[in-house]
Amino acid sequence: MELFGTVILAATLLGLLFLSLFKRDSIRYTKMPPGPTPLPVIGNLLQVNGGRPHLSFIKMSETYSPVMTVHFGQQPAVVLVGFKAVHEALVKQADAFSGRAEIPVFMKVNEGYGLVFTNGEHWKQLRRFSLSTFRDFGMGKRSIEEWIQEEARYLVEEVRKNIGHPFDPTFFLSHAASNIICCIIFGQRFGYHNDNFLHLLSLLNTNVRLLSNPFTQLYNIFPSLIKVMPGVYNKIWNNSKQLKQFVSEQIEKHRETLMADSPRDYIDNFLIRMKQESTNPSTEFDVNNLLVNVSNFFTAGTETTSTTLRYGLLILIKYPHFQEKIHQEIDSVIGRERPPFVKDRRNMPFTEAVIHEIQRFIDLLPLSLPHVTTQDISFRGYNIPAKTVVFPVLHSVLFDKTQWESPYTFNPRHFLDENDQFKINPAFMPFSAGKRICAGEGLARMELFLFFVSLLQNFSFSSTEDPEKVDLTPYTSSLLNVPQAYKLNAHKR
Ligand code: HEM
Repeated sequence: MELFGTVILAATLLGLLFLSLFKRDSIRYTKMPPGPTPLPVIGNLLQVNGGRPHLSFIKMSETYSPVMTVHFGQQPAVVLVGFKAVHEALVKQADAFSGRAEIPVFMKVNEGYGLVFTNGEHWKQLRRFSLSTFRDFGMGKRSIEEWIQEEARYLVEEVRKNIGHPFDPTFFLSHAASNIICCIIFGQRFGYHNDNFLHLLSLLNTNVRLLSNPFTQLYNIFPSLIKVMPGVYNKIWNNSKQLKQFVSEQIEKHRETLMADSPRDYIDNFLIRMKQESTNPSTEFDVNNLLVNVSNFFTAGTETTSTTLRYGLLILIKYPHFQEKIHQEIDSVIGRERPPFVKDRRNMPFTEAVIHEIQRFIDLLPLSLPHVTTQDISFRGYNIPAKTVVFPVLHSVLFDKTQWESPYTFNPRHFLDENDQFKINPAFMPFSAGKRICAGEGLARMELFLFFVSLLQNFSFSSTEDPEKVDLTPYTSSLLNVPQAYKLNAHKR
């Protein structure tokens, strides 16, 4: 009986504690958007498919609303589904939705530095500086267009060596995309057989896989698990440490050879700015921010563009008739002798439409990166407090039935008008939208055009199996949509 009384008392106290916590939160979270009822401790985790969370959100939104509250553990987050909701938030209320959520694994790896996972004045200054340096692509001896054209020549040569037998294009494409970001940040490219560089690329590739691992998602929801079961986190951390070590050595070499009046690349520009601000005690321009920014650009600039190229080739071998139409356009606008230029885009509406459709269809970052509200917001009649995590589901925008004629079909006509001229659609958001829109968008678009066109100018590609059997379903999906491993054949044109 005594035991029974103790249990009742403990249960009552726990209940009161729970209610008081709930009450405290409920004041802050009054009139939040609707959503599924959370369970204690785990919230709505059981309702979210770890491998394809964006699909669970779309399904939930049919019951609740395009603006919903979903609980990750005890943490409520707002999930935005469909073009209208995402556009209204990220574009129309751009400032209020422009924060970056604290993602525990990234916070630990980046230690609060760099621009991708930070906020406020710190983020603004580093983003402004980086965008203006990227825009200044003419810095150093060559323009970025020339760097890409040169890299495309190397890529074509590597593919040529593989004519006659099926090959996996992953490595060549990562190398090509990575070399472009290397030219901008380090002022140099690395050879296709440089072992040190190959090792770095394999670390990046492993980290993208580990970041999509269900364990990593659990760390992000319950950060204390990192202390209890650190296995996967330690691997990510060790790989990032090796990457940072490589970047540190590059920074050191740059310091030794820096000439303040002729910056060669991003690192030089940053070092010059560090010198100019050396007497400012609150400067954002210090060596930690340089190290993390450069490491982030290296990662963001390699895996995203190369995965798009790899997925794009898979789509083109499934649909050889689209490949043929691009061949015809290349032959009539560029010919076979000169390299493609960015200005050719204007005269190549079909090729442009296919590249846009590839980006729409592969839906590279289905959930974007999570945002956070920067202030208390009133949105569609709901109250969303400051610092609430927000997931803009880009997948639901790129496949929104109200915006696309046939969202689940690969259809370049989504980007062509009745006169076969290129037309943009505001729901084309693979780079997200608003104040946090991808800082490498311009660069990525140049790379995609020049690399795809250079490859198709020189080769046609075919599948090793019946094209109809080529499977376009992603192999993993939780952070990046990654295609299934495949081999293809290259044929000289
Ligand atoms: C096809 C290629 C790419 C795609 C689809 C892509 C997509 C994205 C997306 C969806 C975001 C999140 C935006 C948000 O928070 O709302 C992002 C952020 C970012 N991307 Fe990209 N990206 C690509 C290539 C690149 C490249 C080449 C760079 C190289 C510099 C880059 C640098 C960044 C940076 C620095 C951010 C963080 C921006 C910020 O927090 O202010 N991306 N990207």
